[in-house]
Amino acid sequence: MLFAMVAATIILPRVLSLSQTNSLLMIEPVSGFSKLSKSEKINWLTTNYFKDSKTAKHTLKQYWNDDIKLQQLHDEFIENTVTNYYLPMGAAPNFLINGKLYAIPMAIEESSVVAAASKAAKFWLERGGFKTKVISTEKIGQVHFMFHGNVNHLKSFYEIIKPKLISDTKSITKSMEKRGGGILNIELVDKTEELENYYQLHATFETVDAMGANFINSCLEQFAQTFKREARAFAMFSEKEKDIEIVMSILSNYVPNCLVRAEVSCKVEQLTENKNVLAKEFATKMLQAVKIAEVEPYRAVTHNKGIMNGIDAVVLATGNDFRAIEAGVHAYAAKDGHYKSLTQAKIENGIFSFWMDIPLALGTVGGLTSLHPLVKWSLELLGNPSAKELMQIIAAAGLAQNFAALRSLTTTGIQEGHMKMHLMNIINQFGATREEKDKLIFYFKSHTVSVSEVEAELIRIRERKLQEKATKNKNRA
Ligand code: MEV
Repeated sequence: MLFAMVAATIILPRVLSLSQTNSLLMIEPVSGFSKLSKSEKINWLTTNYFKDSKTAKHTLKQYWNDDIKLQQLHDEFIENTVTNYYLPMGAAPNFLINGKLYAIPMAIEESSVVAAASKAAKFWLERGGFKTKVISTEKIGQVHFMFHGNVNHLKSFYEIIKPKLISDTKSITKSMEKRGGGILNIELVDKTEELENYYQLHATFETVDAMGANFINSCLEQFAQTFKREARAFAMFSEKEKDIEIVMSILSNYVPNCLVRAEVSCKVEQLTENKNVLAKEFATKMLQAVKIAEVEPYRAVTHNKGIMNGIDAVVLATGNDFRAIEAGVHAYAAKDGHYKSLTQAKIENGIFSFWMDIPLALGTVGGLTSLHPLVKWSLELLGNPSAKELMQIIAAAGLAQNFAALRSLTTTGIQEGHMKMHLMNIINQFGATREEKDKLIFYFKSHTVSVSEVEAELIRIRERKLQEKATKNKNRA
């Protein structure tokens, strides 16, 4: 009975009644939402979509910053801002990369990621650290267009017009050129075998320390304008050929030539710190785990997801575009015709090597880098790196993460570490007091963590407390 009573206070099922679902269905569309003030937007959202609009408003306001200027800065990053969305930001110290020691900032919600990165960093710190190098830094953009006519006419036009395409972008490229970047090349690509009448201007760029999206897109839109305008005046073209149809001009987030390598290696016998795990066995298992992710896409996706745990967290902390990075990395993982592991491993002459080549288009200037105080903080923590240096740091974080995941998976299993780190989330979900938290943490030092076990142990703790209270009262009486 006591068990049931305590359990009822812990588990609160949330089921919408029919009348509540009906009221949600009766919401009218809103027009001019973006023009409403912040509090009008909040009023509209909370009164229309929430059972308890007062609590819903309070939840949003809890996350507003007291510093009005700082709050305004965040409000203006996007449209229709109603509050700030917090993620924890931690740091993984002891990353020795090319002989330099870094503490790497990581913004992520997954409980075991920072701990795993730190553990792997420490492990490799004692074995020479990470060796990294930038292989290439080329970015890509394309003007996609339709041309109806003779391809040889188009090729002649392109050869004549190419210098004009570049000279017309002078005002856009001027400051980028001063910094050592600019347009590298433009090519005309015939894609008509894949899609009727489809051609591209395929351009490559060097954007130095900027991620370069605005720069590239501005150049591409100028190419498109010049191309269309000059085509109208090209004598060799028929009337139909003169009418080049620009479909779109946009950078590509697939950057296989913006590549960085991160690597670790050590003697096989140095590969274990745990006496219960034999170094040679562990090395073999690591190799097998990588090979499995090379041939089996179901495993490869999860394997690479683990790498992205490390990569995205640093990309986010340093104000870079994690969606662009994700899209480009996964395309790269499928570049050989099937999706496979990004990391590779080998044992040669008694040396275990583990490495990864990964495309990372990053910026350390522009975008959020000089606006968001935490991005500035993160970049300063990293010693205000150039984009090339940041590519190497982030690649090392990704490699470390994969090493940590494979090490757990092939030895203890992932859940041991994962659930220990997840314990606090589970405890918080049940609304445990500080005293209860301490008791739970102590108990789960020697017991397997699961949601139901945490719940059961919390119930036992509360029962014991009630019993103690009852005994005390009885004794007093
Ligand atoms: C969990 O976020 C990531 C892992 O699943 C990665 C892996 O399986 O390699 C542990």
